[in-house]
Amino acid sequence: MKSRNRPEDGPVPGGRARTETVALEASGVRFSYPDGLGVLRGMNLQVAAGERVGLIGPNGAGKTTFFLTACGILQPDAGTVRLFGDSIRPKSFHPDIGLVFQDPDDQLFSPSVWNDVAFGPQNMGLPPEEVAARVSEALTLTDTHELADRAPHHLSGGEKRMVSIAGVLAMQPRVIIYDEPSASLDIRSRRRLIRFLNSAAQALLIASHDLEFVLEVCDRVVVINDGQVIVGGEPRTIMRQANLMEENGLETPRSLEAPAQQRRMAPDEET
Ligand SMILES: Nc1ncnc2c1ncn2[C@@H]1O[C@H](COP(=O)(O)OP(=O)(O)OP(=O)(O)O)[C@@H](O)[C@H]1O
Ligand SMILES: [Mg+2]
Repeated sequence: MKSRNRPEDGPVPGGRARTETVALEASGVRFSYPDGLGVLRGMNLQVAAGERVGLIGPNGAGKTTFFLTACGILQPDAGTVRLFGDSIRPKSFHPDIGLVFQDPDDQLFSPSVWNDVAFGPQNMGLPPEEVAARVSEALTLTDTHELADRAPHHLSGGEKRMVSIAGVLAMQPRVIIYDEPSASLDIRSRRRLIRFLNSAAQALLIASHDLEFVLEVCDRVVVINDGQVIVGGEPRTIMRQANLMEENGLETPRSLEAPAQQRRMAPDEET
């Protein structure tokens, strides 16, 4: 499914989706925290229905802040965010877009995992049987059924991550934003998550410092730095540009380095 809906956007700032249905569209989004300088300085980004877009950039670039504005948790100072053509209203509940938080402790708050996963569907006003069915399905998809009665704050980091994902899946949004989803996952859980995301039908917007993860999952990658989109395009094409990567606090992942370069580095790593 990786080629589906892939926009041929090349080095166009913002990476414009070319396809029929635009799922998420941010235009000129600006945001400053009350105590700081401008964090988002005119973010322009489109994600097509079913597309998987990786957002990469250094610490403090504004990825998390952009996500919070994209789903209405923070109100932009200027600009608009549209979800399937409708404006995102700040501070309102938008079940069609879900955010898996960078820090699961910001997301999980209920006394039990079951209650936490049920929170979204309950807020949508669904009948109890539908809520129960959605919770069960989300726990199955994330392989967290056996955690259902546990207290979220007693779980391990990786368990919390998967439960956070279940909470978003239970709302059945058409757009899911994942903020550093592979952080704190062990190799097996990370591999499971890659397979899971690769079979997802939703539009995905994924921020990650795990660039190999982005390469395996995303159709398109967008580089963000200092609150602005620098470039968007095919992940391998973008990530092979060593200068571009370095200028934006990034590094070409090992899997894309020329074999000679990999051989040269190997002995250092053994010491
Ligand atoms: N609540 C806040 N109040 C004030 N400044 C904030 C707040 N949250 C974030 N910032 C600042 O906004 C900038 C962007 O932060 P943000 O968390 O969006 O970056 P990021 O790209 O997600 O970084 P990382 O890769 O470390 O997760 C940083 O300079 C950060 O210090
Ligand atoms: Mg962040």
